[in-house]
Amino acid sequence: MSDIYTSFSNYNEINIENRKKSTEDEVISWSENAKEYLKYRQEWKKAAEENYTPEIPLHVDIELSDACNLRCSFCAHGMGTVKNVGFMDEEKAKELITEVSELGVKSIKFNWRGEVSINNFLPQAIKYAKDKNILEVQINTNGLPKEKDLLIKCAQNGLDRIIFSVDGFSESTYEEVRKGGHYKQLIENIKDLIKWKLDNDKVKPFVRIQMVRTNVNKHEVNDFLKFWQPKVDDVRISDVMDRGQGNKFSVGDQETVGRRRCPQPFQRLVIGRDGRVSPCCADWNQEVIIGDTAQESLLDIWNGKNMQDMRDIQNKNEHYKVSICDTCYVKESYIWQTIKK
Ligand SMILES: C[S@@+](CC[C@H](N)C(=O)[O-])C[C@H]1O[C@@H](n2cnc3c(N)ncnc32)[C@H](O)[C@@H]1O
Ligand code: SF4
Repeated sequence: MSDIYTSFSNYNEINIENRKKSTEDEVISWSENAKEYLKYRQEWKKAAEENYTPEIPLHVDIELSDACNLRCSFCAHGMGTVKNVGFMDEEKAKELITEVSELGVKSIKFNWRGEVSINNFLPQAIKYAKDKNILEVQINTNGLPKEKDLLIKCAQNGLDRIIFSVDGFSESTYEEVRKGGHYKQLIENIKDLIKWKLDNDKVKPFVRIQMVRTNVNKHEVNDFLKFWQPKVDDVRISDVMDRGQGNKFSVGDQETVGRRRCPQPFQRLVIGRDGRVSPCCADWNQEVIIGDTAQESLLDIWNGKNMQDMRDIQNKNEHYKVSICDTCYVKESYIWQTIKK
């Protein structure tokens, strides 16, 4: 099978061999759609590694909620810098899903800056997208919805991939990092979903468990991997990034030594809750709006001057020209080096 694993440039990723194997297993899990999935992931890698811009976005984020029920210490919600939050209008969400589908985009993720599982419209949105033939429908979640069976409903409605944020192995560490989170409830919710898959003989949703490694939870990484690796499809340890808190939480064993072409403007569009479009997930404050879905088509935005300018800046390594690129937290846009102790 061709290698479709896209790494964070030369960042020294933890658990990489298992993650590469998970990527291959995931292709197999697509059974009759494996060829289509593989093609889309190959394009994803090509857009990251070569000077290549696909004719249409490979993926679109549609933000159904920028509100959140937690206040994680390293997140903007925890730092208190997020204002005026809410849910996307349901009709607007349906219109966007239809447009994304008609464009031929393969993948949608229904979240960006907030927690999507607190929006009870999520299972319907998933069904709507699957009925419109979106190949891959995914979410990142804190796994603590208000409605108890919401995640099972999402699975029943065709969710393809779910990424649970679990930032600790012990209850005390998890709850210290994820303020307002409930470790026991989260574990029960994840186990319920795994049980649903087993009981119903399903390979989807593909389940990834993710830990953001910080100086608060780094001592739990090995136990975390040992516990989750046999239970789920993929385990990712991703390092904390500076989203306005400086290096307060960083582990500090790797440092950035330069910039490189960021893949995001070549792969995706990010639609905020209000329908305005950003070129990448780092535009938390919607500083670099490249278009508005109320006024332009997604294709026009993808091919528009604003987006082309963003790509030029990446190709010329001129990150300093745009505020969000200059202060970006996306790992792939840097060159890394391990700090020797
Ligand atoms: C903003 S959250 C939104 C989705 C959902 N609420 C969740 O917690 O998974 C998306 C991802 O960003 C991660 N995240 C938030 N702040 C971060 C930071 N400073 N560094 C690295 N990852 C961060 C979260 O852990 C989560 O995996
Ligand atoms: S659950 Fe997600 S969006 Fe909410 S505070 Fe935590 S990281 Fe941020």
